[in-house]
Order: sequence, then structure tokens, then C-alpha cells
Amino acid sequence: MKWRPVQQVCLSVCWKFYEHLHFISFFCHLKPVIKVFFLLSVGKKIKNMDNVIAKSKSCRVDCNNVDRKLRQILDLTEDEAHFHMKQSAFLYQLGVQTMSKTFHCLLMRLTVEFFKSPSVNMQHSSAYKIDNSNYVHYVIFSRNVLALSVTINSTTINSEEPNSMVFHVLTDKQNFYSMKHWFARHSYREVTIHILNFDELKSNHFSNMGLGELSMPEEFRISSHTTTQPSPLQMNTKYLSVFGHSHFLLPDVFKNLKKVILLDDDVVVQKDISFLWNLNMGGKVIAATEFCEVKLGQLRSYLGATGYDNNSCAWMSGINKIDLEKWRELDITGVYQSLVRKLKQKNDAQWRAAALPVNLLAFHGHIYTLDNTLIQQGLGHDYGVSEETVQNVAALHYNGNMKPWLDLAIPKYKKYWKSYLTRDERYMEECNVNP
Ligand SMILES: *[C@@H]1O[C@H](CO)[C@@H](O)[C@H](O)[C@H]1NC(C)=O
Ligand SMILES: *[C@@H]1O[C@H](CO)[C@@H](O)[C@H](O)[C@H]1NC(C)=O
Repeated sequence: MKWRPVQQVCLSVCWKFYEHLHFISFFCHLKPVIKVFFLLSVGKKIKNMDNVIAKSKSCRVDCNNVDRKLRQILDLTEDEAHFHMKQSAFLYQLGVQTMSKTFHCLLMRLTVEFFKSPSVNMQHSSAYKIDNSNYVHYVIFSRNVLALSVTINSTTINSEEPNSMVFHVLTDKQNFYSMKHWFARHSYREVTIHILNFDELKSNHFSNMGLGELSMPEEFRISSHTTTQPSPLQMNTKYLSVFGHSHFLLPDVFKNLKKVILLDDDVVVQKDISFLWNLNMGGKVIAATEFCEVKLGQLRSYLGATGYDNNSCAWMSGINKIDLEKWRELDITGVYQSLVRKLKQKNDAQWRAAALPVNLLAFHGHIYTLDNTLIQQGLGHDYGVSEETVQNVAALHYNGNMKPWLDLAIPKYKKYWKSYLTRDERYMEECNVNP
């Protein structure tokens, strides 16, 4: 792989849709001429889009028109548009907004029903499994009940031993009751599903740690110029996803477990992945697929000058096996905390952006490399994955902005996600949730 001058690497963070509706790009270290380009062309578009978005706020019934209008604005300027702009933050947000109204309705319905029907929600006799290391333990961070349901459903349907599976879901107080109720209404073979309220954990067990909100896996876009003469059209963009800050609590939240398999909620599992449970990781802390299109040396401006090997590859979240004992032994959480202190974030955006360097540094040298054919990455941004690959790979990761549950989803990949979504849920119909 060719080295690119490090100053030309640029990083952006894409908030997932169920986060606040932010989109932050750091057009860092770009040559001034490019900055001007951005400002001029973007300024005009922002104005147009502001108008359209203002209209969309008053639109109750059919937001498709607004969506179409926005797409037109985007098309008109596409020639001058930079890759970042094609997947415009504004279009993205609109997709988010039209989704979130119906989604919000679903959440409310489920929450209300939870409190109306306590008997349905009674804990089953499976509580003893939760801490029991004879079972295979999966952990998912999620704020999206539909995404979560698809990840769990696909993993269990394709497993040969569903009765040995325990899923632990970490969510926040807004989603906790609706998820409880959803999983009381739907069954997933014989698996045990254990929903944890992060906010409750925080105040009961970690109150002295000054934790923020629950964070999801973080996605980053890393752009670099392909030639020495930078032009906006020759940007080369890679997508990375890594753990969020809350992941660093895993060894403390699951004090009684020795290992877990971690899944992102934008993953669909198509084959039995339980072999990961007994995988010998040779003393490493996490098993992950490598992402060698990004080398740590390219991220020098984010990682600092020392503490890593220039040539080592980045890695991806999605499906990871974690050795919690090794993690505790090496005090990775302590390493993480000192890295976070060193990086000094001034605001929420910087805090979230810090997830990239802290992940890459805290786990540096502690990664067991999983075969890249285990999981197909990039189905939320890459149009070029062949049908055959998508059908045959063990797992699909929809990292990128175009999540399969959004209108913006890449159509040809959507069906693989949707086929694991229940069609039998009255509240989805009532709320007009039809991803
Ligand atoms: C990594 O790359 C930087 C700049 O390209 C160089 O200064 C540094 O010596 C390299 N480190 C190692 C260990 O090779
Ligand atoms: C799980 O997926 C199957 C199809 O693969 C579907 O028929 C079923 O309704 C789904 N179950 C739930 C609870 O989502």
C-alpha cells in the first residue's frame, strides 16, 4: 500500500441515526484552497436545504416530497459535490427525521404497554443462566429495538444450539421498557434475553466514575487524497467502526463472566458463529477483523507520535470475541482512562471522536485477527459488494450511513436484513413502521 502524506488524512464521525441528529465532519488538515471550495459550494446548498428542512418540520403526512426535493438539490450540484456532500448530512438527517416519528410512536406504544401488562413481562425461570459460564454469552449495545431484534433473530435462527445462548442487551432508560416489552411479546427459539438499563447501572454501580450517556459503537470516515495534487474529487474514503466509550465498562458490568461475544446491532448473522466462543485467542484481548486499508501510521495526527507500530492495521467492530479475564489482567480499562485524560476533550463531539485513538491505542498489540471472510463490512456505504458474497458470507455488517432500516438503505442489501424482521407486530402496523 502506498503511503500518503499524513497531513492529508481527514477524519469524520458519523453519528448513528438514533443518536442526536448531529453530523460532524472535521475537515482537518486540508489545504486552504479546499476549505474555500467547501465553504462556497456548501454555503449555497445549506441555504436551500434549510428551507426544505424548515418545510419538512411542518409536514405531517407525507415526507416523501421533501425527500425528493432534497435529492434534487443534491443532484443539481452533484458535479461539484464532494463525496462527503453526496451523502449529505442534511439528506441523512431528513431520512432520520422521517423515520424517527414512526419509530418514536412504536417506542411509546411498547413502553405504555409494558406498564399496562406487567404479567407478560415477568421474568422467566432462566435468570440463573445470566451469570452462568456454561452458557454462551452475547452482548449487544443498542438503542434501536428493530435493529436489535434482527441481530438477535438472525443469530439464533442460524445457531445449532439456541438453548445455550444468552443475549445481554445494554440500552438506556428511554429504550429499556419498550425493549423489555418487545422481547416479552416475541420469542427467539429458546434463547435467554437479558435487557440492562445503562442509566440504572450507572447510578447504582458506577456513580463515582462520572460516566456520560450510553455510547454506541462509533463510526468514522477517514479520507485521504489519492494523488499528491489534492482535488476534492480524488478523495479516498474508508469507513471504520470501533467500540464506543461505554464498551470499556464491559469487564465491570459482567463481573462474573470470563468472555463474551460482542455484536453490533447493524449486523445480520447468516451462519452459526458459536465457534467464536471456544476460539483460542492466544492470550489476546479481543478478536476482530483487521482493516488494513487504514494503517495506524496514517492516523499519526490522531494517535500521537508514539505507542504503536506505523504499519499495523486498524480493526473493526461488528463481531468481536472478548476475553474479559485477559482484559482485567492487563487493566485495559485503566489504560483507556489514562488515554482519555491525555486527550482532553472539550465537548461532546471531541469526546466521541476520541473513541478512535483510544480504541486503537488501548488494544494495540492485543488483537487476535479473525478471518476477513467471516464478515462482510461496509453494507451501509459500499454499493460494490457482489450478490454472491452477500449471500454466502457468515455475517453482514451495515456500517455506514445507509442503515438497512432507513429509507436511505442500499436497496440490494436491504432484503437480507428485512427477512429477519418479524411481520407480525400490531404496534408496527399501528405506528406505520415499515422499514
Ligand atoms: C513512523 O512514521 C513516522 C513518520 O512517517 C516516523 O517519523 C517514525 O519514525 C515511524 N516510526 C517507526 C517506529 O517506524
Ligand atoms: C425471525 O426471522 C424469521 C425469518 O427468518 C421470521 O419469520 C420471524 O418472524 C422472525 N422472528 C422475530 C421474532 O422477529
